[in-house]
Amino acid sequence: MPEAATYSVVETLRNGRRVEIRALRPDDQAGLLTAVGRTSAQSLFRRFFAAKRGFTEQEVAFFMNIDFTNHVALVAVVEEAGGPVIVGGARYIVGQPGQAEVAFVVVDEYQGQGIGAALMRHLAAIARNSGLRELIAEVLPDNTPMLKVFEKSGFSLESVREITTF
Ligand SMILES: CC(C)(COP(=O)(O)OP(=O)(O)OC[C@H]1O[C@@H](n2cnc3c(N)ncnc32)[C@H](O)[C@@H]1OP(=O)(O)O)[C@@H](O)C(=O)NCCC(=O)NCCS
Repeated sequence: MPEAATYSVVETLRNGRRVEIRALRPDDQAGLLTAVGRTSAQSLFRRFFAAKRGFTEQEVAFFMNIDFTNHVALVAVVEEAGGPVIVGGARYIVGQPGQAEVAFVVVDEYQGQGIGAALMRHLAAIARNSGLRELIAEVLPDNTPMLKVFEKSGFSLESVREITTF
């Protein structure tokens, strides 16, 4: 089993909140879908480039079927009153050798607290350990938070693709 499959670290954010950044687990499906349900239409659009509310069975299977080699997925988990909940996720999928495409989403009420940056730090560390040299992302030109997250990752920004809306 790749090392990334058991990845887990706990970080303290600037506001003192503790967040666990860990590998996506097979039993995370419900938690992931709940997180999507708590995410705004704008954030989902920035992540999926389409007005997304639900997912097909095939899409869910794709998101959950992680080999932690060519497809690596991390989640951010915080403690809420009812227990631990997923409030963000980040993944990369290897395309060409040495290069992977990353995608992120953080539940709106948890954005701007450093969770996206933390996810990127750990995803980038796993990518480096796996010998990846380049991470690319599809980022809308007005998506300052994601561009900032990418800038700080230490990975080259050269290949960030900007796609425009129509
Ligand atoms: C992009 C995203 C994952 C970033 O996650 P986040 O937890 O909000 O990011 P962070 O809190 O770590 O902030 C990252 C940087 O962006 C900055 N930032 C956050 N919100 C901002 C805003 N509304 N305007 C300008 N800068 C902002 C932060 O200040 C931080 O920079 P700093 O460390 O220099 O202060 C999150 O905003 C999100 O889910 N967006 C919707 C989905 C998306 O756009 N995905 C990217 C395409 S794959």
